[in-house]
Amino acid sequence: TEIDIDAEDLDLGGYPHYMAKEIQEQPESVERIIRGRLDDRFGVARLDGLNLTPRELRGFARVKILGCGSAYYVGQIGATMIEELARIPADAEAASEFRYRNPIIEADTLYIAVSQSGETIDTAFAVEEIKRKGGRVVGLVNVVGSTIARACEGGVYLHAGPEIAVASTKALTNMAVGFALIALALGRVRDLSNADGQRIIDAIRALPGQIKSILDFEPEIAEHAKTVAAAKSLFFVGRVRGYPVAREGAQKFKEISYRHAEAYQTSELKHGPLALIDEALPTVAIVPSDELTGRNLAAVQQIKARGGAVLAVTHADVDFGELDVPRIVVPKTEPELDPILLTIPLQLLAYHAALTLGYDIDKPRNLAKSVTVE
Ligand code: AGP
Repeated sequence: TEIDIDAEDLDLGGYPHYMAKEIQEQPESVERIIRGRLDDRFGVARLDGLNLTPRELRGFARVKILGCGSAYYVGQIGATMIEELARIPADAEAASEFRYRNPIIEADTLYIAVSQSGETIDTAFAVEEIKRKGGRVVGLVNVVGSTIARACEGGVYLHAGPEIAVASTKALTNMAVGFALIALALGRVRDLSNADGQRIIDAIRALPGQIKSILDFEPEIAEHAKTVAAAKSLFFVGRVRGYPVAREGAQKFKEISYRHAEAYQTSELKHGPLALIDEALPTVAIVPSDELTGRNLAAVQQIKARGGAVLAVTHADVDFGELDVPRIVVPKTEPELDPILLTIPLQLLAYHAALTLGYDIDKPRNLAKSVTVE
């Protein structure tokens, strides 16, 4: 396969690691996935590459998203966006499980394969299984002309640019933005109004500037990272929109800091894992300002009452009252898009924890950039 990379892409450009460079590139890489795809006249996303007519888009009764690792977690973010904006039942599954379980393929399901490299063997085989059984599969892929991009019948390229660090950052952010575009396209052939479409378009346009403002807080996030890196084990918790954010945050942390980081639904803590909480086990809690803020704060209070330290990733208007909780504050977007911004500080948290611990950030032990063999 021919890959279009120029020397500048492979240059560290003054950054100590590719991961640091790729995190900082996000405002521009998000600009690239949006470019030419937002239609203000009709409050919709133009995704000609999907090769689906409005009638076909309208005909899908379900959406099933398939990816591996972080791409699977972003798929969960995407499924929630699609359910919220298009009101179509949607879920994500690890492609590595899907391909081995003789999946039921339905003609009225839109299958979406999501992959940075486009070469992950489990995702590629899931695509083949869907096609063999007559399903309709499109791709959300970064590398142009890759195996998965070619195997899909249409798709949305991420245009994140080459990603070198094993721990994916800018490609994942573009996947989440890509899902917002797909959710908009699916929503606007259904009950999402032009005005609501425009509300989402305006919010998507503001993302690059908002990401930049989060990156400006890197020194503060680096300080928080020193504290969490001292723990042997930690929880990442979130609920509904925040849960896949917690999963991705824990994944990034595990990959490069080699610390045990377990993601959990905040709502499920009291059904078991709360027993683990003590002074030695800190929690990173995703606490956005939304309809679940009160419940999230109650859970934070329960953790604190058991001696557990909490670091919150939150919005400025969330009132923690008497709770003594250090915070990383991200700007507000439309609630459906919150996961895109909530994820960004967790990249920096993992990066600076690994830096503090002195590990090989761009090439963590035991991992490959893309898993192309069984
Ligand atoms: C991300 O930080 C990981 N390195 C990993 O989970 C990755 O997302 C996964 O292997 C899927 O890769 P892909 O996007 O190239 O298919």
